[in-house]
Amino acid sequence: MTGEAIQNLIVQLKKEIEKAKGQIKTLSDLEAFRVKYAGRKGQISLLFKQLGGLSPDQRSSAGKDINDLKKNVQEFLENHPLVKSGSEKNKNIFDPTLPGDAFRLGSLHPVTIILRQIKDIFQKMGFSVVEGPEVESEYYNFEALNIPKGHPARDMQDTLFVDDSIVMRTHTSPVQIRTMEKQKPPVRIISPGKCYRRDTPDASHSPVFHQVEGLCVDEGITFADLKGIILNFAKQMFGSNMKIRFRPSFFPFVEPGAEYDFTCLICGGKGCRVCKNTGWVEISGAGMVNPEVYGYVGYDPEKYTGFAFGMGVERIAMLLYEVHDIRLFYENDVRFLKQF
Ligand code: FA5
Repeated sequence: MTGEAIQNLIVQLKKEIEKAKGQIKTLSDLEAFRVKYAGRKGQISLLFKQLGGLSPDQRSSAGKDINDLKKNVQEFLENHPLVKSGSEKNKNIFDPTLPGDAFRLGSLHPVTIILRQIKDIFQKMGFSVVEGPEVESEYYNFEALNIPKGHPARDMQDTLFVDDSIVMRTHTSPVQIRTMEKQKPPVRIISPGKCYRRDTPDASHSPVFHQVEGLCVDEGITFADLKGIILNFAKQMFGSNMKIRFRPSFFPFVEPGAEYDFTCLICGGKGCRVCKNTGWVEISGAGMVNPEVYGYVGYDPEKYTGFAFGMGVERIAMLLYEVHDIRLFYENDVRFLKQF
C-alpha cells in the first residue's frame, strides 16, 4: 500500500465515523459503534495493520493521523451523554428499602481463647503473668538452664539460629532465668508465648507453637505442690473427670524431671492418631528446679526449692475442641476459625 492510499483510507474512515456518530440513539447503538470502530478487531485497528509496508516517514505521519482518530473516538465514547447520564442517574439513586450490607464479625483465634483461659486459671491460683523475648540469646535459651555448649540436650530441640549466639527461643523456659534474675523468692509466675523449632509439621507438631511456662520458687516447695497445681488446672480446664499422669523424664534444668499427659478426649482414652494410640496426650515437661540453675541467678539452693513446667498450648486446644490436626490452627481457613 502507498502512503497516498492509506491517507485516503484515513480520510474516508474519518468521514464515516463522523456520520455514524450522528446516528447513535441508544446505549446499544453506542456499543455497536465502539465495537465497529474502536474494538480490538475494529476499523481503526485494521488501519494500524496497514502501516507495515510504508516507508518510515510515511509510517510515522499516517500512524500519527490514525492515533489522533483513535483518541477522538475514545473521547467521544467517554463523554457521550448516554454514558454520563447513565452513571449520574445511578449515583443519585438511594433506595432505603434495599437490604443493607452485612458486616462479617471476626472472632478470636482458638489458641488466643485457650491462652486467656489458662492465664485466668493460674491467676486465680496466685500466679502472675510475665513475658519474655522470642528472639533470645543462647545464654538464656540454653546456658543458664544448665545446657552448656556441646551438651546432648541441645539436640532435643531443633533450633533456629539467628546468628552464632542468638536463637529463636525453642521454649519459654528462658523466662524462668530472666524472672529469677530480677526477683527474689517467693516467685510464682506463668509466662505464655510463641516458641520456634525446626520440627517437621505433623498432626501434633508445628514449627511455631505456644507454651505456657510456670515457675514457683519458695521455701518448702515440693513435687506434691506441682502435682496439686497441675491437677487443679486440668480439672478447671477440662472438667472434674480429667485424669493426668506423670512420667519420669529428663530436662537439664529440673531434677527430678517429668512429663505429664492428659487423657485424650478425642478418643476418650481408647487410642487415636492424635494420641498415637496411647490414650494420653503429652502436654508438658516439668520438674523441680535443678539447684545448678539457682547458681546462675544467685538463689540459695539450701534455702529455696521450686517447681517448673512448660506446657503446649495447641495440644490443650486440640483436646478441648477435639481438633485432630495442629496444622488446622495455622492454615487460616476461615471456615475452620469461625467455629470457635
Ligand atoms: C520443653 O520445652 C521444656 N522447656 C519444658 C519444661 C519446662 C520442662 C519447665 C521442665 C521444666 P518439651 O520440648 O517437651 O519441653 O516441650 C514441652 C511441650 O511443648 C510438649 O509437651 C508439647 O506439648 C509442646 N511442644 C513441643 N514441641 C512442639 C511442637 N513442635 N508443636 C506443638 N507443640 C509442641
